[in-house]
Amino acid sequence: MELGTTLTRFIIAQQRKYPGASGDFSGLLAAIATAGKVISHEVNKAGLIDILGYKGKKNIHGEEVQKLDDFTNKVFMRTLSHTGHLVGIASEEMDDIYQIPEEYPKGKYVFLMDPLDGSSNIDVNISIGSIFSIYRRKSQGPLAEMSDFLQAGRHQVCAGYLIYGSSTMLVYTTGYGVHGFTLDPGIGEFLLSHEGIQMPDRGGIYSINESYTSQWSGGIKAYIEHAKGEKKTARYVGSLVADFHRNLLKGGIYIYPGDKKNPNGKLRLLYEAAPLAFIAEQAKGYASDGQTAMMDIVPKSLHQRVPLFIGSAHDVRQAEHYMSKIDNPS
Ligand code: AHG
Repeated sequence: MELGTTLTRFIIAQQRKYPGASGDFSGLLAAIATAGKVISHEVNKAGLIDILGYKGKKNIHGEEVQKLDDFTNKVFMRTLSHTGHLVGIASEEMDDIYQIPEEYPKGKYVFLMDPLDGSSNIDVNISIGSIFSIYRRKSQGPLAEMSDFLQAGRHQVCAGYLIYGSSTMLVYTTGYGVHGFTLDPGIGEFLLSHEGIQMPDRGGIYSINESYTSQWSGGIKAYIEHAKGEKKTARYVGSLVADFHRNLLKGGIYIYPGDKKNPNGKLRLLYEAAPLAFIAEQAKGYASDGQTAMMDIVPKSLHQRVPLFIGSAHDVRQAEHYMSKIDNPS
């Protein structure tokens, strides 16, 4: 489609093109885009107003919650609750699942999110993002149940992220390729800027926090040496969305491994790893936990952590090869 196509026009065109594509997503994606505009506006003035700084409490993962985390969570909840497409919401910022209130119509999907990824980067003006994922519910009663949320990534019907960087972008997939839209702040519209994004099979970048080298397994150490030998260069922003987005467009591998201290790493399967894995696979990339395809891992709990290897397909397979050869030789 021509550049400058609005998100709404693109979604309608997609529905016509793929008869199987559900019209339900037009409403949901429009609501997500609205939330993204509100958050983008707030993030852009974060340096100016009293939205910076800690709220003086920790979230359920023991991390400091900043005001903007709370704000973004509320914006998504408010914007999505009344769409009529959802029955429940889960968020990295909330201990339990949230039931769509009685007064709103309910739908057949559940929504999961990391409303503000990379929050430690807010006050230093580095890109941050929001990640989301949508599943068709499995239960049939009036309330959302845990089983609706604990589904393998392979069952996602939509996933995406917003990145608040030098410009704000919305990138999403409904299983028909990956498409990126850039917010034109002048007219307040997301315009098609990256249609059918495809990740290079091999990339020139590796992204990993090398300060943890002493904690790494032999497999990770060997793979990173291999990556350096291939003349890959290091890039690590410390915002998963920003690191992933760069590697999606340029090619590369992002790794947040398990290590001696945290065998399951830091990132969450449902809010971060699975949605980005869906996008990676749709863009011809790949994601795994070092052994198993991320999309096939069935979550056992809402806030489960998982090691993440994601990016250019060849590079992730290569890293898996080192992991199995050195860490799990048969
Ligand atoms: P947070 O939202 O608490 O800033 O966490 C960010 C996540 C992810 O976005 C990033 O890639 C990773 O944590 C960075 O963690 P390390 O500092 O341990 O490398």
